[in-house]
Amino acid sequence: MEYYIAKLTIQDNDQLLDVDCNTGDTEKLIVDQYPKIHSIIGLDYEEQRINRAKQRWEQDEKKVAFVQGDAADLPFEDNRFDKVICAETLEWVKEPLRAIQEIRRVLKPNGIALIQHTGWDQTVYTTKRPPKNERGHSSICRCRY
Ligand SMILES: C[S@@+](CC[C@H](N)C(=O)[O-])C[C@H]1O[C@@H](n2cnc3c(N)ncnc32)[C@H](O)[C@@H]1O
Repeated sequence: MEYYIAKLTIQDNDQLLDVDCNTGDTEKLIVDQYPKIHSIIGLDYEEQRINRAKQRWEQDEKKVAFVQGDAADLPFEDNRFDKVICAETLEWVKEPLRAIQEIRRVLKPNGIALIQHTGWDQTVYTTKRPPKNERGHSSICRCRY
C-alpha cells in the first residue's frame, strides 16, 4: 500500500478521500506518514466496517473521519478533494463505472485519483515492477484532471 500511496504525491493541507476504506488501515497509515494533511475521510458501504474503523481510529485522530456510503453515489459536493484513493475495490462495487464517475466529480481540478485494481486478465496501466506471476498483475491508474 505504501507503494501506491507514494504515487499520490500527498502534500501538506491535502483533503483526501478513501473510497471503500474497510476498517481504516489506510487512514492510519496516511496520517502517520503525512501528519500535515488537512484531513482524510474513509467511506465504506458496510456499516459494521465503518463502526469498527471509528472504534479503532476516529477518537485518536482528529484528522480522520469515517462515513457510511455508496461508492456509486458519493455523499460529497463536487470538487472537494485533492486526492482520492480507491484500492482493491472496483471488483466489489456493483456499478464500477459509476463509482469512477463519482470519484472524478468529487476531485478538485488538478486533483489526483489513485484507482488500484488487481485484475488477472486486464491491465490499465502497469507499474514498472515485474508481474508477480504468469497470469496477470496489479493494475494502477493514476489520473489527473
Ligand atoms: C477488498 S475491500 C478493500 C478495502 C481497502 N480499500 C483496502 O485496500 O484494504 C473492499 C471494500 O469495498 C467495500 N464496498 C463494496 N461495495 C461498495 C460500495 N458500493 N460502496 C462502498 N464500499 C463498498 C466493502 O465493504 C469492502 O470494505
